[in-house]
Amino acid sequence: MAAAALLAAALGGGLLLIARRYLSGAGRASRSAAAALMRGKTVIVTGANSGLGRATAAELLRLQARVILGCRDRGRAEQAAREIRAELGAQAEGGELVIRELDLASLRSVRSFCQRVLQEEPKLDVLINNAGIFQCPYMKTEDGFEMQFGVNHLGHFLLTNLLLGLLKSSAPSRIVVVSSKLYKYGEINFEDLNSEISYNKSFGYSRSKLANILFTRELARRLEGTGVTVNVLHPGIVRTNLGRYVNIPLLAKPLFNLVSWAFFKTPLEGAQTSIYLASSAEVEGVSGKYFGDCKEEELLPKAMDDLVARKLWDISEVMVGLLK
Ligand SMILES: NC(=O)c1ccc[n+]([C@@H]2O[C@H](COP(=O)([O-])OP(=O)(O)OC[C@H]3O[C@@H](n4cnc5c(N)ncnc54)[C@H](OP(=O)(O)O)[C@@H]3O)[C@@H](O)[C@H]2O)c1
Ligand SMILES: *[C@@H]1O[C@H](CO)[C@@H](O)[C@H](O)[C@H]1NC(C)=O
Repeated sequence: MAAAALLAAALGGGLLLIARRYLSGAGRASRSAAAALMRGKTVIVTGANSGLGRATAAELLRLQARVILGCRDRGRAEQAAREIRAELGAQAEGGELVIRELDLASLRSVRSFCQRVLQEEPKLDVLINNAGIFQCPYMKTEDGFEMQFGVNHLGHFLLTNLLLGLLKSSAPSRIVVVSSKLYKYGEINFEDLNSEISYNKSFGYSRSKLANILFTRELARRLEGTGVTVNVLHPGIVRTNLGRYVNIPLLAKPLFNLVSWAFFKTPLEGAQTSIYLASSAEVEGVSGKYFGDCKEEELLPKAMDDLVARKLWDISEVMVGLLK
């Protein structure tokens, strides 16, 4: 009995390993396309202390960029920077890691982050809007916005707008926006953007990720002819800290861990499309597009609604105080 169970477990484990190899092969194959040297380039990555942002920052450092880690917690950012340097060893030498405080749940913090960047950086080649919060209970940002919409969309909306002048003067330059396939379940319900009438955490996340795509398309339209491009991506399902608010029953945890180990991408695999859009010559001049696994993908009509995109832009400008 015990032997049979052991055999089954070994077989199952073997199959999982093969599946994992096979699946992650796709992630790795696309890597070579992304490996453009970034020496002399300055890149900002938001949420760079964890998960995809951390992997993106590490890879850009390896490509010799000056990487500014925009993080809300200095301690966690310093730890991530130490770990990245230790992992890369001599490969970290051509680039630079710089930590700057950025809390996207505070417009004041976004403003002071940008002020410092504008003072200190003569140019900015790439902005990667990566930070995100997923399915948290109902919470509000410092300025009273629903947290997921506030951080994932509005914080990055203000950040990008305040850095746009520097990006333009540094052209050709790029903006990369990290969205999610879950945008499909979202809707821009203008009558309740703060979820004061009702809050559904799944809907809130999807809405914020749909907003990321609409923002990208409207911004691409506004940036035509400036030499600044903006593209949006979904990373796939990646093993990160994003699920911190999701409760998995204690008994289901081992199974979840096994499935995530076998089938989820590693952060480095998940970060490939961000790295590709930030660095590859293949996407030079490409703007307003949606990518997955380093390839352009189709969007649902709701993500291509230019009227909704424009209305969301106008309302966002008022919400973050760019227009009074
Ligand atoms: N993992 C996936 O399967 C998946 C799938 C689709 C899309 N995405 C997207 O990928 C992006 C990165 O997520 P991840 O999976 O790498 O998750 P993660 O490991 O939780 O990393 C998220 C990062 O965002 C930061 N962040 C959260 N709130 C912030 C705030 N108010 N101000 C500044 N930074 C803040 C976090 O900082 P702290 O460490 O300080 O909390 C962390 O550095 C997100 O936009 C997410 O929506 C992920
Ligand atoms: C919450 O939103 C999700 C996705 O938008 C939807 O599938 C689900 O039915 C909603 N739940 C409730 C209780 O309305």
